Amino acid sequence: HAIVRAMIAAPVALHARRADFPALCRPVNGLPLIYLDHAATSQKPQVVLDALMTAYVERCANVHRGVYALSEAATRDFEAVRHKVCSLIDAPDPRGVVFTKGTTESLNLLAHSLGQRFVQPGDEVLVTQLEHHSNVVPWQVMAKQRGATLVVAPVDAQGTLSLDALSRKLSPKTKIIACTHASNVTGALMDVRSICQLGRQVGALTVIDGAQAIPHLPVSVQELGCDFYCFSAHKLLGPFGVGVLWGRTAILDTMPPWQTGGAMVLSVRETESDYQPIPQRFEAGTQAVAEVIALGAAIDYLQGIGLPEIAKQEDALLQQAKQCLRKVPGLRLLGSEGPSVPVISFVLDGVHPHDVATALSAEGIAVRAGLHCAEPLFSALGVRGSVRISLSFVNTIEEIERLCTSLVQIGVLFR
Ligand code: ALA
Repeated sequence: HAIVRAMIAAPVALHARRADFPALCRPVNGLPLIYLDHAATSQKPQVVLDALMTAYVERCANVHRGVYALSEAATRDFEAVRHKVCSLIDAPDPRGVVFTKGTTESLNLLAHSLGQRFVQPGDEVLVTQLEHHSNVVPWQVMAKQRGATLVVAPVDAQGTLSLDALSRKLSPKTKIIACTHASNVTGALMDVRSICQLGRQVGALTVIDGAQAIPHLPVSVQELGCDFYCFSAHKLLGPFGVGVLWGRTAILDTMPPWQTGGAMVLSVRETESDYQPIPQRFEAGTQAVAEVIALGAAIDYLQGIGLPEIAKQEDALLQQAKQCLRKVPGLRLLGSEGPSVPVISFVLDGVHPHDVATALSAEGIAVRAGLHCAEPLFSALGVRGSVRISLSFVNTIEEIERLCTSLVQIGVLFR
């Protein structure tokens, strides 16, 4: 009985799940792959690849257009994913789930549509200094077009955003706050709940870029209290080319479309048209049907494991990885301590980040180096780039130790 109890109590090490990911089980350039770039894109489990193939082989028909069996089956599978997304992000209504090409398209859609609906000359849109370019440039363009001002909440020299710094930039003129849930450079988690509360106090809408957070922790848009939440499938073990924009239906209902064409109209006359209700109003043209269905399989897979367990095991690995990296001579971690997703940026004294990444690649280790599409953050950090490792539950401490051994050698070789 004691053995059985111990077996039940023992946590299952999730890195055993690596066997589910074909790309992680094959060598690259003759070396076993140590993949530490999950923030750029996650690898895909076999169940997701199977769902993609099945959708193309057994359900290949356009959705919302056919009255034949194949199209009806595809439509059912496609629409079922809206409900799966609701369960993933604890959203109350599938009509609030819009499928897009990815986080970037979700944010462009919002900048365009919210700008037209809510932003007047003289208004302000607030972003933070640690945003990914995809949560900066669309707002820059929209602010220029609408005669509004883009205001940036600064971070400190460690790249930390304080609520005080953000509050100081808010005013009754602030119409939108666009903020990431987790930094793609340092991994730092933002206090999104408080930011949304601050937004409500000044009557601003809140747009959260969830691309880096959603693969790593349970998310409830209702608890966060945001108005919009965006993410990509490809960082969530799903396929490329698909993402989600979730919005409060009461607001989405009042917003004009961004892209127009087929599927988003109710009736088209020669000189004007009536639009579909949400979410179809925002889904012009043929959708990436098979990819959306495969996103559903990715959600099932993650929920089968459980996001709380993923968060727990990834955080343990993150802490071990930081300890290990701190022992590498000349290595400096960027960012500060605090709640974070498993993403770490660092610089290695005297060695350019691209040289570090290239040398690591020769050892079969895949990391990202550079500015990570977050240039404004690097002015605050005072460095011209970093090496970034981004972990997943499939990684092991042995892989991190291999990384650290290679970093020590690179430091010696290059200096
Ligand atoms: N946005 C992705 C990253 O940070 C591509 O790597």
